[in-house]
Amino acid sequence: AKRIFSGVQPTGVITLGNYIGAIKQFPELQDQGDAIYCIVDQHAITIQQDPKELRSNIRSLAAMYIAVGIDPEKSILFIQSEVPAHAQAGWMLQCVTSIGELERMTQFKDKSAKAAGTNETVLAALLTYPPLMAGDILLYNTDIVPVGDDQKQHIELTRDIAERFNKRYKKTFKIPDIALSKAGRRIKSLQDPTKKMSKSDANAKATIRLLDTPKQIEKKIKSAVTDSEGIVRYDKENKPGVSNLIDIEAALTNSSTEDVVAKYDGKGYGDFKAGVAQVVIDHLAPIQARYNELIDSEELDRILDEGAEKANAIANATIQRMEDAMGLGRGS
Ligand code: TYM
Repeated sequence: AKRIFSGVQPTGVITLGNYIGAIKQFPELQDQGDAIYCIVDQHAITIQQDPKELRSNIRSLAAMYIAVGIDPEKSILFIQSEVPAHAQAGWMLQCVTSIGELERMTQFKDKSAKAAGTNETVLAALLTYPPLMAGDILLYNTDIVPVGDDQKQHIELTRDIAERFNKRYKKTFKIPDIALSKAGRRIKSLQDPTKKMSKSDANAKATIRLLDTPKQIEKKIKSAVTDSEGIVRYDKENKPGVSNLIDIEAALTNSSTEDVVAKYDGKGYGDFKAGVAQVVIDHLAPIQARYNELIDSEELDRILDEGAEKANAIANATIQRMEDAMGLGRGS
């Protein structure tokens, strides 16, 4: 069976972008292979986090993973910091990565520019984050990494790092492939459809979160930026706002953009937006109900304990092979 691995940062309630771009595929993939899903809390601290908030976001994301359909009988679900092998692998892989490669990452360029703009310090870990991510993936002999388009560069670097390690030391790693979802490679901000929808957007109206109430969802979609043409048609270039809403409905209903356009044939933007909002609300209702059952449950802790135990076993075996390849310690 193919090994599938993906991770999400616990930095606030996940967005419709995270969901459509990546997480929606996770339950579908767990029937096609051995899936491992991670709450990457060590990645989250590359930007300063409030400790209390981080703890609560970790738990919230864990509940959300299960609420969207991750089945702990089929998949391993765990928290990154509960598997020390990730930090160990991240360090070793930094030692086969050049500064130049890291400085070329667009996510680093964007986030460091943003930090500089607001007079925040740019942390070293923001630069060295990709080898930690490579470690996440490589520790589990991963075949497939389902992610959104914005992570493509990191996956390509992961492949380079793995190949380099294999060549320089000893064949240790499988070279993973990326899996982009067809529907929502990049869901856009509702307020600026040329930018991606982002968890950290300062404008709350730009982002739909999976725990938003029906009222909030309706309001945000109603005020989504569109254009003055007044015709619902799919044209990413000239109508990015309308096309983004079409993408959202198509992804959530597993239909084509043509089907969505046909549904709104002859309708104005008012009806169109109300229709898309209803699709989002209906899709999220059962997820939110399941989330509320889980969030304070002992079941959730049991799942995470078990997940960490299974993940530790796999990851520690890889660490052993990495240390042997590099000649660290005394060997076993
Ligand atoms: P993160 O937490 O920023 O995002 C989680 C997933 O959501 C996708 N995504 C989007 N997809 C479509 N449209 C959007 N607007 C949008 N915004 C986010 C992301 O591509 C991602 O798949 N570095 C990763 C987390 C990570 C990881 C890993 C992923 C750490 N280690 C190992 C895979 C394998 C990140 O910051 O994702």
